[in-house]
Amino acid sequence: MNESILITGANIGLGKETARLLALKQETKKVILFCRNQAKAEAAKKDLEEQTGKKIFEIIIGDVSDANSVRKAVEKIKEPIDAVILNAGGMVGKMAGKVTPSGMNELAATNILGHVILVEELIKHDRLKKAVLYPSAEAVPGVKMLGMKPVAMKTSSADEFAAVLDGSYFGNKFDAVQAYGYVKYAATMWMLSMARKYPELKFVVVSPGNTKGTLAPDNLPPAMKFMLKNFMMPVVFPLMGGMVHELEVGAKRFVDGISDDQYKSGVFYASKEGKLSGDVVDQSTFFTALKNTAFQDNADKAIHRFIK
Ligand SMILES: NC(=O)c1ccc[n+]([C@@H]2O[C@H](COP(=O)([O-])OP(=O)(O)OC[C@H]3O[C@@H](n4cnc5c(N)ncnc54)[C@H](OP(=O)(O)O)[C@@H]3O)[C@@H](O)[C@H]2O)c1
Repeated sequence: MNESILITGANIGLGKETARLLALKQETKKVILFCRNQAKAEAAKKDLEEQTGKKIFEIIIGDVSDANSVRKAVEKIKEPIDAVILNAGGMVGKMAGKVTPSGMNELAATNILGHVILVEELIKHDRLKKAVLYPSAEAVPGVKMLGMKPVAMKTSSADEFAAVLDGSYFGNKFDAVQAYGYVKYAATMWMLSMARKYPELKFVVVSPGNTKGTLAPDNLPPAMKFMLKNFMMPVVFPLMGGMVHELEVGAKRFVDGISDDQYKSGVFYASKEGKLSGDVVDQSTFFTALKNTAFQDNADKAIHRFIK
């Protein structure tokens, strides 16, 4: 039972909807909205209070792409938290390939850097009691029907993961849409490594599936955004079946991930092979690199090269 939950990127999209669903559970006493923008966080808090009738939301300001910002934010967390949902992220937009002071590019820093620091600092200060959930994506095993190729690293060595994180893996032409799956793979493998390192905690990886009603399409290149918003999401995906769902359905996967004992630590759950919606299954049954503990530890080592 999770009484207190912290959600990063909780002012919009899946993070905010997850906050709403959790607040409606009787057991929930506190939901911390970890956001980078005070005004957006305040607006989300007000809206969530109105929608749920609960005054259990707190705000912590922090930017998950900035190591020091996250460390400062963690200092404000004085009481242990039951569960953390590392939701902030996505394809980031035009600045995705820009290298940040950490050495990771913006895409990797946003999806990984601050989240690793957040979790490790909470554990170090004995402030994390039960569970961590990381939202990965079907982009990792790929979706054949849409021409999305599975992530295919040659060795999954620490050097190769580090090249993914600083962007050099992708050569001169950085394409965030392609790099996204690789960054999510690195984060997923770090989570699986943490599950073995901390068996007393639950480290679960869950894809929300292809979810409507978030700002994710806004970060795509203009032509792709247009196609997705006007054609794929409203027409093509619903016709295909098992390819898209509403915001509440995606967010429920996160709620179940931390609350339901059927979701096990050290497993990456996402849609069935080739699908983007419907039931979730253990992805390692068909994307077998996930089972390789040496690869998992290599992702962990590579990430820590960027954390000083
Ligand atoms: N939507 C999907 O279909 C889908 C599918 C698979 C996986 N996912 C994953 O699910 C998660 C949520 O996606 P979403 O679609 O709900 O995204 P979204 O609507 O774009 O919302 C992203 C949230 O993350 C916050 N954020 C971004 N960069 C941040 C930073 N540096 N520091 C703090 N907060 C930051 C944003 O805050 P601002 O408002 O301040 O920008 C916003 O609250 C992501 O990790 C995404 O990769 C989504």
